[in-house]
Amino acid sequence: MTERPRILVKLKAQTRPQHDSIEGNRFGKAMMDGTLSEADYLLFLQKFYGFHVPLERLLRRINWSSAGIDIEQRCKARLLERDLLSLGMTQDEIASLPEASTLPSMSTIQEAAGVLYVMEGSTLGGQIQARQVQKMYGRTADNGAAYFSSYGAHVGAMWKSCCEAIARIADNNEENEAVIIASAQQTFQALEHWLAVESSIESIEVM
Ligand code: HEM
Repeated sequence: MTERPRILVKLKAQTRPQHDSIEGNRFGKAMMDGTLSEADYLLFLQKFYGFHVPLERLLRRINWSSAGIDIEQRCKARLLERDLLSLGMTQDEIASLPEASTLPSMSTIQEAAGVLYVMEGSTLGGQIQARQVQKMYGRTADNGAAYFSSYGAHVGAMWKSCCEAIARIADNNEENEAVIIASAQQTFQALEHWLAVESSIESIEVM
């Protein structure tokens, strides 16, 4: 087996407390317990949508070609939008959802790589969450669980190519590594903050 690049080992170790905190937050915990109501599942997706949209706007400004990343393929707001439509929201309601304003800085590809690490890593846990959503509400990638299903059978391959790109961007350079790690930590922090902010989203009925 080939050795895991140093940056990936560091990233995992140095974001672990934040990962565990977000996994154990009220949405994550209830989802794993199987007690998340469908109305809260909708709220969870709305929150993720409000985080992904502005984040992806920044990710798209980066020139990823030298790192071998097709960023469009990895943007997931459109999957969230599909799920929100499946759960009964209209396009207009989706377009007026609140967006997160506290976001990690993305002025260099190293900073953006830290963000990418968090957003792509979430597809790993997504496989478990997709199974829970199917068990709890009978929803699959076609009717409300597209986001958690993400790349389907290709999750492993997509994660592997993401890790390779991050390693290329880090280039075994400690300064680059420190920037990537700090950015990943800020991304987790920003998401946790956004999930904790009381939602002003009015509840709507789940279809
Ligand atoms: C209920 C919620 C979640 C569960 C159950 C979960 C579970 C998991 C699992 C099982 C893995 C792979 C474990 C491993 O290789 O050690 C993983 C990896 C990861 N997850 Fe989560 N996760 C959850 C939420 C999230 C969220 C919300 C994010 C970020 C938006 C996230 C980011 C990551 C990252 C970055 C990794 C990669 C770790 C590595 O470097 O290998 N996870 N998660």
